[in-house]
Amino acid sequence: MITVTLLVENTARGTGILGEHGLAWWIDTGTHRVLFDTGQGMALLHNAAVLKADLAAADAIVLSHGHHDHVGGLEAVLAVAGRAELVFHPRAVEAKFTGSDPGAPRRISKEFVEREWFRDGVRRVRVTREPQEVVPGVWTTGEIPRTNDFEDTGGPFFLDAKLTQPDPLLDDQAGFFMTGEGVVVVLGCAHAGVVNTLEYIARLTGRSTMHTVVGGMHLENASPRRMAGTLAAFRRFDVRRIGPVHCTGFLAAGAFWREFPTRCFPCAASTRLSWASLVR
Ligand SMILES: [Fe+2]
Ligand SMILES: [Fe+2]
Repeated sequence: MITVTLLVENTARGTGILGEHGLAWWIDTGTHRVLFDTGQGMALLHNAAVLKADLAAADAIVLSHGHHDHVGGLEAVLAVAGRAELVFHPRAVEAKFTGSDPGAPRRISKEFVEREWFRDGVRRVRVTREPQEVVPGVWTTGEIPRTNDFEDTGGPFFLDAKLTQPDPLLDDQAGFFMTGEGVVVVLGCAHAGVVNTLEYIARLTGRSTMHTVVGGMHLENASPRRMAGTLAAFRRFDVRRIGPVHCTGFLAAGAFWREFPTRCFPCAASTRLSWASLVR
């Protein structure tokens, strides 16, 4: 059996679980464990203890991209998960900013990541733009080609504090694995566009359908055209289980629930998903 537990999410369910704006997934294949993102850093260790996810046993830690709500818990987790290999795109360590008023930029990267202070705490670091098998059967996409004309990064993201250089967020990547039921996709923020992401994974796996897609889709500011194109892609890929969480946005999440009422499922910190077998 392979399980994915949502350790950190904006919302929480159950007793003693904390919510924070951020995301962290714990993937346990039965033989290996991957931590995909680390949240902002306040909820990860606490929730992992409550949910009995043994972070010290992590074989790999993947950073979906460099935003603080995904890498903020890295410092804390490396203190306990020293044997893990750290996997990320080279541009995940860049300075990152957001804001619509040049007079009020907000830094949304973390010094610990930008200065690569993590290098002391990990066994091995794998920095690459290519798809990677991080542990047997569990993959990351690496850099995702932007192939359609209706998706963008989803917000005002910049590489400089003056907010002049747009950040294309080339570091954005997703995780995926093949099960007996089909392809499972775990998203960070999907800044590359969730449709671009699914299309790339379809290419990498040779599959034209997906079983499960969970994670942030950054559709808060999505145009009606983008939203329609996104829902059409989920229909085309015949996605059976859909967990639109984190930065997906309420309106967009509502659109998914309306369109796929029996396929969407409630997803919050403590949600656990499982599949009978991992296909390697
Ligand atoms: Fe995010
Ligand atoms: Fe993000």
